[in-house]
Amino acid sequence: MSDGPIKRIGILTGGGDCPGINAVIRAVTKTAIFDHKWECFGIEDGFLGLIENRIRPLRAESVSNILTLGGTILGTSNKADPARFAVGTDAAGNLIFKDVRDKCLENYRAHGLDALVVIGGDGSMSCATGLLPGGVRCVGVPKTIDNDLMHTHITFGFQTAVEIGTEAIDRIHTTAASHHRILVVELMGRNAGWLTLYAGLASGADIILIPEIPYDIGRLCEFCKDRMAHRHRSTIVAVSEGAKPLGGSQFVQQTVADSPDPIRLGGIAPVLAKQLEMCSGIEARSVVLGHVLRGGTPCGADRVLATRLGHKAIDLLAAGQFNRLVVVQHGQMTSVPIEEVANRQRLVPRDHDLVRAARAVDTCFGDV
Ligand code: F6P
Repeated sequence: MSDGPIKRIGILTGGGDCPGINAVIRAVTKTAIFDHKWECFGIEDGFLGLIENRIRPLRAESVSNILTLGGTILGTSNKADPARFAVGTDAAGNLIFKDVRDKCLENYRAHGLDALVVIGGDGSMSCATGLLPGGVRCVGVPKTIDNDLMHTHITFGFQTAVEIGTEAIDRIHTTAASHHRILVVELMGRNAGWLTLYAGLASGADIILIPEIPYDIGRLCEFCKDRMAHRHRSTIVAVSEGAKPLGGSQFVQQTVADSPDPIRLGGIAPVLAKQLEMCSGIEARSVVLGHVLRGGTPCGADRVLATRLGHKAIDLLAAGQFNRLVVVQHGQMTSVPIEEVANRQRLVPRDHDLVRAARAVDTCFGDV
């Protein structure tokens, strides 16, 4: 495995897509080619492409006109952890997992790669960590609309998702008020409620429910009734897909056995709307925003952030600082060891100033 100067890099995007990935790919590729004269290779569909040897050259022209494009031109996958890859099923129908990291190393070597740029969340950083003992040198770029990576104040994609969530809830306000209804709006966010908190606060949601603060249904019901008694025309609930009732558990939509992320959440909004309608007597409806939150073009702030992160990733590789994740701390680009973020999440502290600010403007979190 090469430990000399870098001449060739591979770029991959892992886990769920989010707005701004292409802006990172563009910044990484152009900086590597123009500043350092390195060659770039795009690995298709995340770690799956590294396992299956689907690797293609990326030139400056390949990344032209993609700054504003949503999704990822390389494709992604959240079903391919090289250390535990599903290769088939046994006679009883159980999945068989195999460690295929050697295959990744073989393909990495066959393309003469000197380093990898891994654009992903905590799961992708964990996959990358698994390749380090084999001699892979890498740098991570923090991607997720959940904004839940450790050691970085922000991940790209988050600000776009907040904008989309805010606009959606703004629109919900007028229809809810016209009909004097409770409207429950579900936003993504597996274990961290940042997206729901920001979009809920920005759009003036009356109730914000996040995974970090379990809710009491009786408390929510009283709050809705009290609002109607005080002639409020509607009640808007922004709920994170990962929110849970006090003493209860998250709403699991499906378990996906062959994925490193086996739990698929979603579907709390219609259940909650029905419960609130039953206990308050007020008509309720629900909307699940789901993947709308992470599709389409990134906002201006995410385009800038993605470009800065991609540029910094190449700066780190050029400086010989390997196996680090680019992070933003106090507005500055810096980095931390990649192992420190693998499989860890940054949750909303219950006493975070945004939670306190929201409470101060009479937002209910459903706790007693
Ligand atoms: O982690 C990002 C995220 O968008 C979560 O908010 C959500 O739970 C998950 O991905 C959904 O993943 P998928 O697209 O695989 O259903």
